[in-house]
Amino acid sequence: MKRAVLLLALLLSAQVQAAPFASGNAAEGKKFFDQNHCNRCHVDMMGGDGSEIFTRPDHKVRSASQLVSQINFCSGNAGIRITHQDEQNLAAYLNQRYYKLP
Ligand code: HEC
Repeated sequence: MKRAVLLLALLLSAQVQAAPFASGNAAEGKKFFDQNHCNRCHVDMMGGDGSEIFTRPDHKVRSASQLVSQINFCSGNAGIRITHQDEQNLAAYLNQRYYKLP
């Protein structure tokens, strides 16, 4: 019995880890993105609402770790301070809406 519970716990935790940014909150990420005008440079580059930067055929981000690096690179460049939780929220948002990385 104890063993079965342990096995179940292991299975569940493996499942949670399988989804990237499981600790991120996409709704909070969207709020942060909009409030900090994350798309302002992307709009200058791509036109429209700027979101084509994420969906252009030669977009840069191809993995969860690249997404995290790019978020930190952009916010650093733009002088926007982000916490680890903000980073995870932004990643969850962008991944859910655009990248759909496994
Ligand atoms: C100061 C201008 C600027 C601001 C503000 C900015 N970015 Fe960017 N962002 C860029 C540039 C330039 C690129 C394209 C980099 C490239 O193509 O090498 C980019 C690309 C990206 C990409 C990768 C797109 C791809 O090709 O897959 C992500 C993700 C991203 N930005 C997230 C953010 C987030 C999140 C914020 C707000 C915290 C933000 N950016 C704010 C300039 C900016």
